[in-house]
Amino acid sequence: MAKHGLPLGIDVGGSGVKGAPVDLTTGEFAAKRMRVDTPVPSTPTAVAAVIAQVADHFDDVRGDSPIGVTIPGVVTHGVVRSAANIDKLWLDFDAEPMLEKVLEHDIILVNDADAAGVAELHYGAAKGHKGLVVMTTLGTGIGSALIYDGVLIPNSELGHLEIDGHDAETRAASSIKEKEGLSYAEWATRLQRYYSQLEALLWPDLIVVGGGVSKDADQFLPLLKLRTPIVPATLRNKAGIIGAAHLAAHKND
Ligand code: BGC
Repeated sequence: MAKHGLPLGIDVGGSGVKGAPVDLTTGEFAAKRMRVDTPVPSTPTAVAAVIAQVADHFDDVRGDSPIGVTIPGVVTHGVVRSAANIDKLWLDFDAEPMLEKVLEHDIILVNDADAAGVAELHYGAAKGHKGLVVMTTLGTGIGSALIYDGVLIPNSELGHLEIDGHDAETRAASSIKEKEGLSYAEWATRLQRYYSQLEALLWPDLIVVGGGVSKDADQFLPLLKLRTPIVPATLRNKAGIIGAAHLAAHKND
């Protein structure tokens, strides 16, 4: 296959490492997504090997374009600074240079929710939206992305707001709904508390709700009473890959 030089997005999640080359004019995958189980334990060395496996799979389409990789933690200057839902060996790990060495390729390492937010802004539920967009991902934890007039303010970590003495994600993530067997109505009471707090602190213009559970948004979003428009994400589990590829392509802007 000819070299197209498309950016590659790789999304590191709790259960799978997924990647695809992305056509940035449409925001569509340019080839079928490749998925490999996330190794257990998900140490940096083990995950890096899987990331390399996914990247190598697309060697013919990505040419020498940059690669964007997501991680479910804070990333500042290539260093992972938090590890709420991944192996603790990532903590304070200088991951970007290590991955560049393993992949023999330039990369950008970004927070997973930040990548999803960027994707929704350019191609999804918040397309072209001005003002303050807050993306939240409801999954194992709660991720967030803050985007103002199209500019990402990285590592917002609003899933860890302290609400009623609890780390918010330990009450309102969708994994907690599953674990505690909450109905949508019961879970919505917790989401109400969470999103009310979020809008009281930030006054966003739009809230986007992502994560796998967003496909059932009609079961819980209509139960929420907020002054801020709140909409389901549209890119679903593609958002991390698309956003990572987008950020990689714009790394040097
Ligand atoms: C982490 C965030 C991450 C989110 C979703 C949280 O526990 O602190 O960095 O974006 O989970 O994976």
